[in-house]
Amino acid sequence: TKGGYPHFMLKEIYEQPESLAFTVAGLEPAQLEAVANAVLSARNVYLVGAGTSYHAGLTLAYLLPRLRITAIPIISSEYAIYENLFDRDDVAIVVSQSGETIDTIKAARAMREKGVRVVAVTNVVGSTLSRESDATIYTRAGPEIGVAATKTFTTQVLTLGALYVTALSLLGYDVSQHVDEMKKVPDLARKTIENTAGTAKDLARRLRNRPSAYYLGRGAALPVAMEGALKLKEVAYIHAEAYSAGESKHGPIALVEPGFPTLFVFSDPQTREKTLSNVAEMKARGALTIGTVPAKSDYAKKLDVAIEVPEMGDVFAPIIHVIPLQMLAYFAAVERGYDPDKPRNLAKTVTVE
Ligand code: F6R
Repeated sequence: TKGGYPHFMLKEIYEQPESLAFTVAGLEPAQLEAVANAVLSARNVYLVGAGTSYHAGLTLAYLLPRLRITAIPIISSEYAIYENLFDRDDVAIVVSQSGETIDTIKAARAMREKGVRVVAVTNVVGSTLSRESDATIYTRAGPEIGVAATKTFTTQVLTLGALYVTALSLLGYDVSQHVDEMKKVPDLARKTIENTAGTAKDLARRLRNRPSAYYLGRGAALPVAMEGALKLKEVAYIHAEAYSAGESKHGPIALVEPGFPTLFVFSDPQTREKTLSNVAEMKARGALTIGTVPAKSDYAKKLDVAIEVPEMGDVFAPIIHVIPLQMLAYFAAVERGYDPDKPRNLAKTVTVE
């Protein structure tokens, strides 16, 4: 049941503090160490998934090069492009909420055939993907009924972040701050929901009649922008495009006219300053500038609408920054009179190619 919420999507957004706490509690250090060791000694690391699960894999793909690891993100349905690379010295992290997405299962099979060590990250115990993988890390988000992935995305990002932090610690880095942050994620997610729901709702009202919006981020913030844009398209049927903020002048800014919504994600501390110059560039064209920014920072002043979220390091920040974007998509769908739980043309699990 919806437990008093008007829709499963809203219920599942509000369940995130709880599901994230469950994910943290369920992490198995010995298993994470084994996978992190394999990742550290791999020749190539593939991050494989479809849709939202692809975005989760991308969050890790943006971090691994910092450890001098060759990370190759692969959209499940495009694995064939990379087939000649697959080798027994490689590791694939294959992300799928359901563990039943046919494109993802086929990619995993093709990799295993070539000797790639396949690690599944899935929410469903005993799913096809988990049965066919060398190892499985479960995300433990609980069942998700809404078609749009919400709590399953944030728990995937948390799991992959934990893997990254484990790799850091195996390399001898002091990870105590990361570990502290990971433990605080559920509580900060709760605060984020409480503090940003009102702004997300107001913003949804402002966007309700807009045909299109840009979602922008740089570096590790880009997957968050991509996920926010996907949610808006999927449930509110507003065209949304995510791209790396540095690309504006290479084409997309041509579309920007006064009032055009541009939503900036400031989740990556390493790229915030450069993102600010992209905000200015959009402002100069009269765009409506919106951003998810760390609370009590100066970034808020540079935006027309600031969505303030708790400050957080780069590994787990995507979880906190995506929450208001999930709510924005939800409220925009409701404002426009759509049922966010049953987006047209979509099924919860895609079992045909
Ligand atoms: C979007 C969404 C889809 C799924 C994708 C993969 O909200 O839910 O993009 O993420 O179909 O599904 P799984 O993770 O089950 O492989």
